[in-house]
Amino acid sequence: MATSFWVPLAIHTAAKWRVADVLEDGSKTVAELARATDTQEDPLRRVLRALASLGIFAETEDGRFAHTPMSRTLRSDAPGSLRDFMMMIGADWYWRAWGQLPHSIKTTQPGFDQVFGEPVFEYLSKHAEAATVFNRAMTGFSAMSGAEVAPERYDFSQVKTVVDVAGGHGSFLARVLKTHPHLRGGLFDQPAVVAEAQAMLAESGVADRCTLLGGDFFESVPESYDVYMMKMIIHDWKDAQALRILQNCRKAMLRDAKLLLVEQLMPERAVPGPHHFIDLAMLSMLGSKVRTVTEFRALLAQAGFELTRTIDLVHGFAILESKPS
Ligand SMILES: C[S@@+](CC[C@H](N)C(=O)[O-])C[C@H]1O[C@@H](n2cnc3c(N)ncnc32)[C@H](O)[C@@H]1O
Repeated sequence: MATSFWVPLAIHTAAKWRVADVLEDGSKTVAELARATDTQEDPLRRVLRALASLGIFAETEDGRFAHTPMSRTLRSDAPGSLRDFMMMIGADWYWRAWGQLPHSIKTTQPGFDQVFGEPVFEYLSKHAEAATVFNRAMTGFSAMSGAEVAPERYDFSQVKTVVDVAGGHGSFLARVLKTHPHLRGGLFDQPAVVAEAQAMLAESGVADRCTLLGGDFFESVPESYDVYMMKMIIHDWKDAQALRILQNCRKAMLRDAKLLLVEQLMPERAVPGPHHFIDLAMLSMLGSKVRTVTEFRALLAQAGFELTRTIDLVHGFAILESKPS
């Protein structure tokens, strides 16, 4: 455990240079892999051996490397691929923020702001390459988190229109629209983010049922949709800002509209699983937290909502359904 941060940085290195992509079936020599990834043979062998010692890639008797089930998850085309997520985990802006965890404990302030002098979303709005890594990582994380099963778990039969507030590149909305062909959707996010969403929506075959809406949820959100969805958004913000976003949703909604939050729920005590470390990631990057259902109920009530039910998904995720109170 003491040295475990070495592991994701080694995985990131293999992901960055796409070793898993160039290694197809069978095995390859390190020289072949180095040529195909434009890297240096000796350090590449050392990284691959380190990973192979953990079962990520395997070294054959004659010193070639082959895939294992774990290394296959780094292929860009693997279902629920880890590649984009590992691109973020090893990005220097990501782990440098984590390095300030002791500072966050003293101050409650995010490590990210301490290192870079501004909040992460402001930084990303000025650094296009980092923003692309982040948005792809979020799409990748969604695919592996299990939160993507939400569209199948909610009854949309009486609903005509849904808006995904801060829906990123639109992968979640695309899934909702694909699963429920009678729905029309709106994808709302910052203008630069929605501008990159068209390809994903077209690829999913839902572009003709989807409107792209650029804006700032601290100002306002689009009006009069039947269902307002927000997946993995409230956990990004401290209470004061989370309240503002929820109040803006409330203002935009008609009385019989519904709000669906898809969030990880924090258990009341320490349990095995990813919750507590995701919570620390929230602290380091954003100064925010993973909330318990009690904390969500209170926050929603303050914003003018009544939490009507929670639908458990997998990996501790749940749909929290609320209505205007
Ligand atoms: C953690 S990502 C979640 C994206 C998506 N809902 C998902 O689950 O993959 C947070 C999203 O909030 C968006 N966001 C941040 N600040 C925003 C703002 N002021 N107005 C609208 N969207 C914002 C970001 O652009 C990003 O797409």
